[in-house]
Amino acid sequence: MIDTPASSLTMRPAWADIDLNALRHNLQVLRERAGSRRVLAILKANAYGHGLTRIAQALGDVDAIGVARVDEALELRKAGITRPIVLLEGFFDAKQIPVLAVSHIQPVLHTKHQVGQLLRTPDLPEPMRVWLKVDTGMHRLGLNAEDAERIYHALDQSPLVTGHPVLMSHFACADEPDHELNGRQIALFEDIKQALPYATTSFANSAALFADLAADDDWVRPGVALYGISPFPQQTGTDLNLQAVMKLQASIISIRKIRAGESVGYGASWTASNDTWIGIVAIGYGDGYPRHAPHGTPVWINGQEYPLVGRVAMDMITVELGPNMSAQLGDTAQLWGPDLPVEKVAEKVGTIPYELLCNVARRVNLDYLNE
Ligand SMILES: Cc1ncc(COP(=O)(O)O)c(C=O)c1O
Repeated sequence: MIDTPASSLTMRPAWADIDLNALRHNLQVLRERAGSRRVLAILKANAYGHGLTRIAQALGDVDAIGVARVDEALELRKAGITRPIVLLEGFFDAKQIPVLAVSHIQPVLHTKHQVGQLLRTPDLPEPMRVWLKVDTGMHRLGLNAEDAERIYHALDQSPLVTGHPVLMSHFACADEPDHELNGRQIALFEDIKQALPYATTSFANSAALFADLAADDDWVRPGVALYGISPFPQQTGTDLNLQAVMKLQASIISIRKIRAGESVGYGASWTASNDTWIGIVAIGYGDGYPRHAPHGTPVWINGQEYPLVGRVAMDMITVELGPNMSAQLGDTAQLWGPDLPVEKVAEKVGTIPYELLCNVARRVNLDYLNE
């Protein structure tokens, strides 16, 4: 007879609960902040790791969905999503233009090259809605301000384009609301808007929405806050009345005693200073857990935090459970989620929550709650 703890019978390696009630709550919070502005929900990078299609379905009546890749937009259409879809980097090849037109996918045009490609398209099955991005100081994507008015008019008058293009820009430092670049970006955007008074406009991401920057535009574009994460350093989503949507979990698959002076894991990079217990948790960099997480990165087990010790391996991490260990084989560890903010883990790891969420690997099963 094998002595098996009851909890180990349901033992799984790594999985993530995706709480759709939390997602809907966050959308509601964002809608309240947005007031009369429309919400373009940013679902790029597989909805920041939460699963593109299921998140789009759960958002139901959101005004529009933003993605970065043509494949993502087409995947949404294939799944029956009928909401407007905005392609944040536009098309990557002129051959994609007719495909976008028939699929009612709205490209953001951010270079003269893209605008030229569209305007030179001999014919389209139907005219398309477009967004025009201007660079107001981030100096990544967007037309120069001095070209904006002329190019806006060219698009506006083209039979290939329906409706007025939406004029948009993007903040470089909205997560630092007092950064002087914010004011300069807003002032430049205001100048451009004055020359194009009938254009609908969009500027704010999550941070700008919470910091009340660019509050008189028509569209807001929250990403990270939808998933319950604070866009500001030194704060968690809870501080903004947001709820974590993802709970990343894994099972303890082994527990062992380590004597003082013994080391743990690859490179023997951590050595116990006293006799203690180590839990081996079935998640590693192969699941997207960050390999460079240092000793002391918190892991939540049975209602409290324990420190990660030793190196993160492909399929496992090791956690010090202490000399008076009470955990059992098969217990669940939370790597981040409602009890352990991903913001806190990210800070310890030296990255941002966005990266941790996006990196969750395909082999991590996503379990949707509250559909
Ligand atoms: C153009 C654009 N708008 C909005 C967002 C959403 O930003 P956040 O997730 O910080 O709200 C992004 C994300 O990077 C973006 O690239």
